[in-house]
Amino acid sequence: MADSRDQWKSKLGFVLAASGSAIGLGNVVFFGSNAYTYGFGAFYLPYLVALFVVGIPMLITELGLGGLTQQAFPPSLGRVGGRWGEMVGWFALLNASFITMYYITILAWVCGMFLGSFGPLWEAVSATPGYAMATLDNPQGFFFRMISTPWVVLLVLLVWVLNLVIVRRGATSIEPVVKIFVPLMWIFMLILVIRGVTLPHGEEGVYLLFTPDFQIMDDPAVWRGAVAQIFFSLTLGFGVMTAYASYLPRDADHTNNGLLTACLNCGFEYIAGLAIFSLLFAFAIVPSAGTLSMIFFVVPEGIAAMPWAVRSFGLVFFLLLVMAGLSSSISLIEGLNCAIIDKFGWSRKKTLLSTGAVGLVGSLLFALPRVIDPELAATGTVGFTLIDLIDHWAFGYGLLTVGLIESLMIGWLLPISRLREFLNTTSRVKIPAAFDWLVKVVIPALLLVVLGSSVWQEVASGAIYGWSEDLALRQVLPVVCFLVWLFGSLAVAAFLATKPGKPATPAPAGPAPHPAQVDRA
Ligand code: ALA
Repeated sequence: MADSRDQWKSKLGFVLAASGSAIGLGNVVFFGSNAYTYGFGAFYLPYLVALFVVGIPMLITELGLGGLTQQAFPPSLGRVGGRWGEMVGWFALLNASFITMYYITILAWVCGMFLGSFGPLWEAVSATPGYAMATLDNPQGFFFRMISTPWVVLLVLLVWVLNLVIVRRGATSIEPVVKIFVPLMWIFMLILVIRGVTLPHGEEGVYLLFTPDFQIMDDPAVWRGAVAQIFFSLTLGFGVMTAYASYLPRDADHTNNGLLTACLNCGFEYIAGLAIFSLLFAFAIVPSAGTLSMIFFVVPEGIAAMPWAVRSFGLVFFLLLVMAGLSSSISLIEGLNCAIIDKFGWSRKKTLLSTGAVGLVGSLLFALPRVIDPELAATGTVGFTLIDLIDHWAFGYGLLTVGLIESLMIGWLLPISRLREFLNTTSRVKIPAAFDWLVKVVIPALLLVVLGSSVWQEVASGAIYGWSEDLALRQVLPVVCFLVWLFGSLAVAAFLATKPGKPATPAPAGPAPHPAQVDRA
């Protein structure tokens, strides 16, 4: 028997849940490392252009779709584009599931660092001979030793259990948790930023982050970084925002909700950037390795160098990351659960157990290689082969591809003018007609250019990502990862889209449907 459809209890609950979904590891990890890679303030302008031209319109579109159909992402797109539309929706969720699995593995490592920050993380290294990473100084050494112990399996299990407990009753059980997590995340981040900018030389990091550089605007890589950052950060292309908005009454102000969510997310992201860069400048730390190094050893090194209250700042930083990661991962899981329940009418318990079991196995696959062979980490980079490979396709290409097809489908087939009319009936801020061309033409064109230039750069560089690695395993692994990601997801998406769904249920209570509501299924 299918559970009855859930609803947020208040607008505040929804906004906190949506901003909790948006504010996550991406705000701290990816924004910091993108801003660093693309020259600090140089990243500012492309980021803001991507936010206003792509991010906010797509967020309002995804929220509006959920409000209009009162259903999860695949059935919603199914209403717009029939079986093909539904298949795109399922592909989006499967792509998101790959990201969820390694996101939870990374979150489990963050939990390990949080536990370590009670003491061992800050102690001098106690070299345990055996493998190269064992002799690294803390906090870097602690990180590599921690992710190489079998305890990591327990941490992954713990994070999955926490997620499932929080989403066990959908919006009803998510809402009280985000009402605690999200305000605390802001308080903790403000503590960190105040401490960072008041350190000697801390303000230099702030100046650099706010100094634009127009020279780099013609570099496609910067634009790619900015658009991908906005997609990931606003949880777009994951099917999450549509699912979350489908738990709101039909006549909610989705435009206002989208604007609020985007402001909260990007405000938090910038403050996180200030906290990180002031810390780096205060202690003259130069990040050398990839994205994850930023949270796992660059920032901890800064905190360890603080003259006082080291442990409490370390605890605050990692607790903040645990809460930010959890408030995002629950939304990724809920996006899939909502789709399964809407399409197949499974009970929430059966859905949770199934997605939890598959997800746990996937997260362990990302965590275990390091446990089985700690030397995998001895390459000098973070070297997370499996995560890097899947991340490259699912994050680098999957999200933007979903965004491209989604904007074309909603733009031309729904069409977007109907969605805009629907939104304007209940929104205080009226969306102008130019919005239609943004969704129909400008956003798809921009995403196409970004994706096209990525493919072009890979092909021009002589090897598709990772395929020219020297180790035997790494020659096969990138190909396997690519095939599993693309064809595996497409095959499962096609299977799910063609399977008959649960019998149609009566329309939910609420105001009469607006004439803009269509059903092409
Ligand atoms: N939006 C989430 C994050 O930034 C997924 O981590």
